[in-house]
Amino acid sequence: MTATAADQQAASTSANAPANPADDYSQADWNSAYGNVTTELEGWVETVEGAIPPALQGTLYRNGPGRLERGGQWVQHPFDGDGMILAVGFHQGRAYLRNRFVRTAGWLEEEAAGRWRYRGVFGTQKPGGILANALDLRLKNIANTSVVDWGGRLLALWEAASPTALDPVTLATQGLSTMGGVLAPQEPFSAHPRLDPGHHGGPRLVNFGVRTGPRSTIRLMEFNPQGQLVRQRQDRLQGFAFLHDFALTPNWAVFLKNALEFNPLPYVMGRRGAAQCLRSRPGGRGEFWLVPRGAGVPMVVLATEGFVFHHVNAWEEGATLVVDSIHYADFPVVKPGEDFRHVAFDQLPPGRLERCTIDLANGRVERRRLSGRCCEFATVHPQRQGRRHRFAWMAVAQRETGNAPLQAIEKLDSDTGQRWVWSAAPRGFVSEPVLVPHPDDTAEDAGWILSLVWNGARRASDVVILRAADLRLQAVLRLPLAVPHGLHGSWSRRDITPTAP
Ligand code: CO
Repeated sequence: MTATAADQQAASTSANAPANPADDYSQADWNSAYGNVTTELEGWVETVEGAIPPALQGTLYRNGPGRLERGGQWVQHPFDGDGMILAVGFHQGRAYLRNRFVRTAGWLEEEAAGRWRYRGVFGTQKPGGILANALDLRLKNIANTSVVDWGGRLLALWEAASPTALDPVTLATQGLSTMGGVLAPQEPFSAHPRLDPGHHGGPRLVNFGVRTGPRSTIRLMEFNPQGQLVRQRQDRLQGFAFLHDFALTPNWAVFLKNALEFNPLPYVMGRRGAAQCLRSRPGGRGEFWLVPRGAGVPMVVLATEGFVFHHVNAWEEGATLVVDSIHYADFPVVKPGEDFRHVAFDQLPPGRLERCTIDLANGRVERRRLSGRCCEFATVHPQRQGRRHRFAWMAVAQRETGNAPLQAIEKLDSDTGQRWVWSAAPRGFVSEPVLVPHPDDTAEDAGWILSLVWNGARRASDVVILRAADLRLQAVLRLPLAVPHGLHGSWSRRDITPTAP
């Protein structure tokens, strides 16, 4: 690949770019992020390099596993860790930090007991071996996957159960939310809501919940900014569906049902976690499940081979739907007994940004690759949700090919193929980039990219602020906190700093 001038410019702003791209990370730096969060902090962030743009006003919320060990026993997989919310509020060039665990019923019970009392979906077992775990199919809502500020409340999300409501300023846990009486007790509510910027009047938060088995039921729900339900539907479709995310257009909710099988026996018998019982169906192809947001029946369209966790965006072009997603050649299996700290990245399939074009008239799907570099956590400008976008921002590996830890942020111009890269390698590890639109500029790439970065040299977390247009580094906030590699977050215009009126 030929580096563009912008690549070089962005790379030159990275103080720790590797001398040799082949030496892009050490496993010890990467897995040094896996520890328990032991403190809940609140205060102004004192250590800032560069300058926080004064126009950057609002709050970055971010969720991820913060408790990975109890009573000397580590989780089998970090995704089983209890959720901890990080909030970084920006006010007139200063940043204010709060972090709080989500005090779910299970968290409170296990804190009191000082040990795990629930099995984890990703293989964490209770103490006591198979006998203690067999037939215990209770789920602990760990509220660790994403967080969104909607309807006056902050919602900590975990896809297999209902959201947990938090005070958006103090992060104090308020309890399970029914979304204003919409959800039945512990009804699933995905961790991947989409924000409709106004395709049907005002903004909406659109989300789904799925109950699966030989047949799957998808409930689609749309909420206005006051948190009131304005539209919903429920559809039953044939087949077992692992649905982590979806994409949204003005008229469609787009799901990709991966070609997976679920054999629950090892889970029921106490030998594996539920997610460890998922296997890809050999030679199988997934299906797009296209659910109309209004009236009409869902369409089922045979997809191409491979596996998808996350979609980037989707839009309509006449009688076709265009869906950008991160595709893997196969389902990355969660192997029992594997130590997550020593995961062999080069044995895993890389995720790649690809575009599927679905012809709604004949059900034909064409797929093409937009970028060959291993990526995850891609995003677009919030006003482009459901509309054709030009720019996407994503976390990428430092190396150009194969799977490797995410160490850089890339901006991709899907019209021209031009790329901009800011890298935290060799000792830094990025997380999901969150795009903050510029308050006074509606251009698609005006604003900032925020990302929590694990600083392997400091063994602590930084918040990095990049200019969205060219990924030029604006500021680094050195947090007095070590946050494990985490999951998803979001931006809110809310001011959580003590200066707020
Ligand atoms: Co996700």
